[in-house]
Amino acid sequence: MSQDAIPPAVRRVYGPEDLSTAASFAGGYINFGDWSGFDAAGTPTRADRVRSQQALYRRVLAEFPHPPASRLAEVGCGRGLGCALAVGELDFAAVTGVDIHPEQVARAREANAGALAASPDRLGYTIGAADRLPFADGALDGVYSVEAAQHFPELPGFAREAARVLRPGGRLVVTTFFTSGPAAAGPLRELLASFADGLDVPHPITGFATALEAAGFAAPAVRSIGPAVWPGFDRYLAGGAVPPGHWARNFLAAWREGLLDYYLVTAERPATA
Ligand SMILES: C[S@@+](CC[C@H](N)C(=O)[O-])C[C@H]1O[C@@H](n2cnc3c(N)ncnc32)[C@H](O)[C@@H]1O
Repeated sequence: MSQDAIPPAVRRVYGPEDLSTAASFAGGYINFGDWSGFDAAGTPTRADRVRSQQALYRRVLAEFPHPPASRLAEVGCGRGLGCALAVGELDFAAVTGVDIHPEQVARAREANAGALAASPDRLGYTIGAADRLPFADGALDGVYSVEAAQHFPELPGFAREAARVLRPGGRLVVTTFFTSGPAAAGPLRELLASFADGLDVPHPITGFATALEAAGFAAPAVRSIGPAVWPGFDRYLAGGAVPPGHWARNFLAAWREGLLDYYLVTAERPATA
């Protein structure tokens, strides 16, 4: 993957800046987390923060028929901890983490060196872009993506590639934040630095569902999981992870104002395709 193919903000934030080291994340994961079941009154600890991110992975991976439905790929795997969880804890037969950023792939290999050595045939990390996945046609039973699609420059190419690499009957599961529509883009750039600097692309959720259908997926299921994500994440930030008034606190406001939401999207490639 040529560095030129990587959007500048993605290149910077997941290269020299290494977002996984920011205090708003923890443990090497880089997602806002699923806080279902956490005590709404308490201040989450750093361990809770890690658990929330693992819980988001478990929620996504629960959407796949349990093993032996086997060959999965994660698009935008970051440090690759979710792939290792899928193999080590959930016993999926084989998981390949794909990331556009060579530094992230190197970090994933280093962070999961033990798991890679223990399961060289079941776990792997490779460079690739969402709209150019490094797999043969029909090679996979499942494709998933956790908090990465907000960075993809365009979603129709990702939808087409996911459809191409899935076998007939294979499943796609995507979780991240999408906007409520084109009118949300301006206000989001005002509220959130990640939209203002081009790191996050304001993709409307309806556009993603349309792209999936156009790529041949059958009736995509779109579910909001915002209530399980935003209040818990903001409680963690409010507990001291970021200084008072930090722009990241505006994600909660953006959700409450109906500008964006966090979704779990599933879609299947028809068995007869
Ligand atoms: C917010 S991180 C999420 C990492 C991981 N899924 C997690 O939850 O810990 C987003 C990741 O997506 C990757 N990414 C961004 N654009 C991509 C693209 N077009 N194709 C593949 N990966 C991409 C970034 O390099 C980064 O590692």
